[in-house]
Amino acid sequence: HESSQQVVVIGTGYVGLGTVALLAHLGHRVTGLDIDAAKIEQLRRGEVPIYEPGLASLLAQQADRVHWTTDYAVVAQADVIFICVGTPPGPGGAPDLEFITGAAVGIAPHLSDRSQVLVNKSTVPIGTGDFVQRLLEEHSPHFDETRHFVVSNPEFLREGTALGDSLYPDRIVMGGAPEGVARLTALYAPLIEQTFAPPAETPRPESYLRPGVVGTTLQSAEMIKYAANAFLALKISFANEIAGLCERVGADIQEVATGIGADARIGPRFLQAGLGWGGSCFGKDTQGLISAGREYGYPMPILQAAIDVNYRQRQVVIEKLQRHLKTLKGKRIAVLGMAFKPNTDDLRDAPAHDLIQRLHAMEASVVAHDPVAMPRARREWPHLTYTEAPDPASALRRADAVVIATEWDEYRGLDWPALLLTMRRPLIIDARNVLRSPLLAQIEQFGREGPSSPAETVHP
Ligand code: UDX
Repeated sequence: HESSQQVVVIGTGYVGLGTVALLAHLGHRVTGLDIDAAKIEQLRRGEVPIYEPGLASLLAQQADRVHWTTDYAVVAQADVIFICVGTPPGPGGAPDLEFITGAAVGIAPHLSDRSQVLVNKSTVPIGTGDFVQRLLEEHSPHFDETRHFVVSNPEFLREGTALGDSLYPDRIVMGGAPEGVARLTALYAPLIEQTFAPPAETPRPESYLRPGVVGTTLQSAEMIKYAANAFLALKISFANEIAGLCERVGADIQEVATGIGADARIGPRFLQAGLGWGGSCFGKDTQGLISAGREYGYPMPILQAAIDVNYRQRQVVIEKLQRHLKTLKGKRIAVLGMAFKPNTDDLRDAPAHDLIQRLHAMEASVVAHDPVAMPRARREWPHLTYTEAPDPASALRRADAVVIATEWDEYRGLDWPALLLTMRRPLIIDARNVLRSPLLAQIEQFGREGPSSPAETVHP
């Protein structure tokens, strides 16, 4: 194994912080860099600015190997430099490369005459690796193609399970010049061979062996990231499209998903029907591919349909409420869950946002709850009108309906039969299909409509 290396990670969002924690745990010396001085101050004090299970504790354990800075001068000492900055959607759906450009221009003057690998982990349009290399050539007196290698190494971690996904990945994709890929392979050796000691909070899953390693070109690595996310998004939308028809013919989407997922060629994951996807990746990456297609005069109708189906799901919930409550004006609707998925406080493209906005437009009064995302919603959604509930029980009290918008574990464990008695009308729109057996059996005594998605559970 190559011994401990000096690494700089640019960007301290989900991907950057996860990368710092992972590489420090593998034994490397890591400096996290961000242009946001307040964030760096926070990290120096040992505070982690995002909610991600296990991250703060892993960073604390590795504190002697980890440093934080706003100064690009640290790049001069680095063997490997990771670019992990955000690529938010820009106008027209193509990702905005402002932060990538900023990072490349920040790095360039500090490249040294040692051999250095520049690794791009941000999700970037195909061709960005070449673009970064050009920026480095233009802005660095030292750039030399025989010593400086640009490698694309897309990140597949999910929020909420970021550490497990990083420590025990399905595959590691590295694209670029063979020397660059070889250097990155050496950096990841303990990960590839799984020779590190698993952290207590994130044990190695029993069935896990080793990651697959995919070495390829820059362009293919960049495409793999987009195609993977687009395929997962498509899979969810497919399940949602089938769910709508299931409802009409009297089939149960949960059972249908189990049945088709048992075919190894299809696989059981990402067939969960309901409110559809949200978050920072699926919407942006499907749009990103479509906009890349547009650039080449190549329409991508399958991806467009996946997006359309996804947003239709949010309206399906409104329609179900209308079917039972007729007019929504003046009705009190409880929304359980604001984050785009459980175990995160991330609100980007969260379906709950759309839902609350639509309910408010129809003059319903919304009472919302989330176990962790309430403070963030207060900051990031100042334009939305809703009342905060301190706990699910207060949200449900005297409500005309409750919509489960995020499948937090806490909502599965509620005493639903008792809570229903406190509602004005015991109508549950189970938009994540979480109240399945054995809970559903309990609620069954209140009566329930046929299987549907997002499911409804109604008092007779
Ligand atoms: C995703 C990818 O999984 C990850 O590989 C990539 O690096 C980043 O984007 P993330 O956005 O964190 O990760 O969350 P993920 O767990 O994939 O869920 C995405 C959305 O799809 C969530 O809103 C979730 O609720 C929804 N979803 C997921 C479904 O509606 N049904 C499913 O079956 C699975």
